[in-house]
This record gives sequence, structure tokens and C-alpha cells, in this order.
Amino acid sequence: MAARRPAAAWLEIHPENFVANPHATELLLDLARDYPISVHSVGVSIGSAHGIDRAHLSRVRQLIDRINPILVSGHVAWSTHPGEYLNDLLPLPYDEETLAVLVRHVDEVQETLGRPYLVENPSSYVGFGRSTMGEAQFLTELVRRTGCRLLCDVSNVHLSAHNMGYDARAYLDGLPGDAIDELHLGGFTIEDDAAPNSNVIVDTHDSPIDGLALELYAYALARFGWKPTLIEWDNEIPAFDTLLAEAARVDGVAAAARAEPGEASRVAG
Ligand SMILES: [Fe+2]
Repeated sequence: MAARRPAAAWLEIHPENFVANPHATELLLDLARDYPISVHSVGVSIGSAHGIDRAHLSRVRQLIDRINPILVSGHVAWSTHPGEYLNDLLPLPYDEETLAVLVRHVDEVQETLGRPYLVENPSSYVGFGRSTMGEAQFLTELVRRTGCRLLCDVSNVHLSAHNMGYDARAYLDGLPGDAIDELHLGGFTIEDDAAPNSNVIVDTHDSPIDGLALELYAYALARFGWKPTLIEWDNEIPAFDTLLAEAARVDGVAAAARAEPGEASRVAG
């Protein structure tokens, strides 16, 4: 991909793949001369009650200073416990106590990075009895209290709505559209659930985007207007031409939704 310089409008990377790898960072700097880069962290655990790993956040800042990304984002989740990095994005209850933790940490991230931070809606498989608000309401309040921005993963909305039993379009209706700076789409896998005649959709990023997720994407564009959109395909990684074809398919959906044609989708790093 690096040698071909294909016609991708921008690329998204995980900083955790680069901050401890000087060789990879040099390759990234080479790509950053030709492509706008979005930085999407999976290790800045804004939901961790014990606080953010400031050493890691500082390393992310140093990388950002070198590549000057167009966007910097992360997840509404927790993935660290003192001294431990858990290789997953774990769920949070949506209540005032969690909101206060996230407000404190998003403030710290934005201050340290010196720029707005986009927070992404998670893929959900469990809920918490102590939650006092829905996810869209929780994100809206986080935006209001911190000035952060949103990354709306439309596939996550589709699968979370299925798994948790709510209406995906009503969820999108509840988000502050003017705070959304990026959309994600990704493939998922439908698996049998333990309960009879039931299934769960798992966010696997290993396949083409499902038609129902594309329908929801068209709805999101109609509601929010055109937004830069990334295809996440980072398992069972296909030939790059397959990824470009998928980007073209998403562009077609965006064009049909009367968004700005030809610009709606580009590919992941
Ligand atoms: Fe995503």
C-alpha cells in the first residue's frame, strides 16, 4: 500500500502500533507526507476509574506532534487497571458517577493533547442495572460538559441496537449531529446466543459491511450531513483492492443519500 500510494483521501492509525516502534513511525511519517492521518487510540482508557496513564498519553502527544493528524479519537470504554493493560474495550454504566470520571479524563486528554478529542460509541453486549441514562444521552452530556467531539460508529449503533434491544434510528436522532466529526463503518459477525432463537452481533471488523448497516449509514448522512467516514477492516485483512472496492461501495451509498459524492469513504491503516 505504501509503495502504490492509492487514491485514499485519508488514513486512520492506532498510535499504540507506533509509539514504541521507531521503524513503524518512520514509515508513518513517510505516509503522512502524502495522506492526512487520523489518530484513533485504543489505549487511552478514559473510562478507568483510577485515572489515565499519563506516560502513555504523553507518548501519544509526541506522535501527534510529529504527524499533525486531522483528527484524534478514542473510545467510551475502559481498558486499563493499575499496572495492567487489558486487550479489550470494556463497557461502562451510564450514570452521573461514570460521567464525572469521563468528564475529568476527557478534559485531561484534551488539555494534554492540545486539541479536541473525539469519543466513539462502543459496541455493546451487556448493560448495567445502575445506568440512569441511555447512551446517546450520556454522550450528549459528555459533549456538553467537555466540548469534546463525537465519532459515531454506525455499525456499532446497528449491532448495539440489536444486542441491547433499542431502536438504532432513534439513537441517532438523540445524538448532537453538529458535534460529530467522523463516522465509522465495519463488518461484523452474527453468532448464536445462549438463549434459544436469539443471536448476538459481534464487532469483528473482518468482513464487508452489512446491508442493514449501510441503510443506517444513509440515514445518518441524511440526518447529520456529509461526514468523513472510515471503513474499519483490521481482521481477516483483505487485499488492498478489496478494501478500495468497499470504499467505493460506501461512496455509492453516500452519493445516493445526496451527500457529497466521491468523498464519503476512505480506508483504514
Ligand atoms: Fe469504530
